[in-house]
Amino acid sequence: MYSEKVMEHFANPRNVGEIPDANAVGQVGNAKCGDIMKMYMKIEDNVIKDVKFKTFGCGAAIATSSMATEMVKGKTVDEALKLTNKAVMEALDGLPKEKIHCSVLAEEAIQSAINDYRRRSGEDVPEDKEYTCEH
Ligand code: FES
Repeated sequence: MYSEKVMEHFANPRNVGEIPDANAVGQVGNAKCGDIMKMYMKIEDNVIKDVKFKTFGCGAAIATSSMATEMVKGKTVDEALKLTNKAVMEALDGLPKEKIHCSVLAEEAIQSAINDYRRRSGEDVPEDKEYTCEH
């Protein structure tokens, strides 16, 4: 059902934890399955120097969070905002159809953290939209 890469990231997730002096923190949740993803970033000069996450959720959510953090580390905030759940899934060699929504959680958590950073920097960024997942 899952690719080797998904299993590997699930068994050894990268960048798990918190960043105590993070200047960007985002959280998204799924009311239906109860899964929550929290993302911490240390951003300097618009570059994501460090990123960590905590995911209370299914294996696919953990694997996609792990891969997504690897993909945005060292990127600028603008580059990170372009990361799609599709790109994360492709990097993991795919996900079963019924698990695609789990990868959306990772994309949204990155956006939520960057929006927090922008608000802290004085930008007029609207509140995060409510995340809902169809399952
Ligand atoms: Fe809810 Fe995977 S089942 S995020």
